[in-house]
Amino acid sequence: MDRISESAVQPAEIIALLRWYQDAGVDESIGDDPGALGRPRTAGPAPMAMAPVQAAPPQPVQSTPAAAPVRAVAATVLPGSDAATGDARRIAAGCNTLEELAAALAAFDGCGLKATATQMVFADGNPEADIMIVGEAPGAEEDRLGKPFVGQSGKLLDRMLAAIGLDRTTVYISNIVNWRPPGNRQPNASEIAISLPFIERHIALMQPKILLCAGGTSAAALLATREGITRIHGRWYDRSFPDLPAPVPTMPIYHPAFILRQPGMKRDVWRDLLVLKRRMQELGCGFASVT
Ligand code: URA
Repeated sequence: MDRISESAVQPAEIIALLRWYQDAGVDESIGDDPGALGRPRTAGPAPMAMAPVQAAPPQPVQSTPAAAPVRAVAATVLPGSDAATGDARRIAAGCNTLEELAAALAAFDGCGLKATATQMVFADGNPEADIMIVGEAPGAEEDRLGKPFVGQSGKLLDRMLAAIGLDRTTVYISNIVNWRPPGNRQPNASEIAISLPFIERHIALMQPKILLCAGGTSAAALLATREGITRIHGRWYDRSFPDLPAPVPTMPIYHPAFILRQPGMKRDVWRDLLVLKRRMQELGCGFASVT
């Protein structure tokens, strides 16, 4: 995995990250590892002296999210299956590389959002990363720059990732829908159904060790659940993909745009990040290391 050097980290980024920790209720460092930080202040009966995340079971981080049973989820079939969805499925299945998939999507006219968007937004980050994050749909800034999560919520996502030692060299990011819905409205069921074969193939080609659904729309689409994000965030699901030999451990997290509107949720976010970090350690996933 790539490394980031200390000189590459700007003071403003450090201040933003420290502010993020403060808002999340983390007020004590427990080591040099950027991911090995403390717990939220309100996170339950933690001992006063902070221990490394792995070394103090049972931990508050396990209590609600990780205690929930892992649910097996098979491939999703959404309503709105029409000719375009069938085309999408056939075209996506015929792609054998990420480059082929990007080219096929760019040539695909079956999603009406393409007509109003400036450009397709395919992915950002490291296609060889262990972690893949799938958001909802591009916003205005993403539409302008052609990359996912580059606006305000993208900046917050970067801070969330940095809080556990991740960055865009160690994650790969895409969206359920690859074109911006006009006025940043939510994609509708038909747009999601048409987009789903592409993102499922995208995930299968990328083969992440861990999949994160950023926000309720992404989680509902990929996990075929009607449960709201407030109930399912921080829990693990085993998501099967027809083209992958084993299910992918998948966790819904709050969408950064939601956290921007509800800053009080940062403590929950921090707990979810610790759940993620622990699973990454268990699976031997790569972190960005600050040298
Ligand atoms: N919100 C998303 O879900 N995706 C983006 O790329 C940007 C904002």
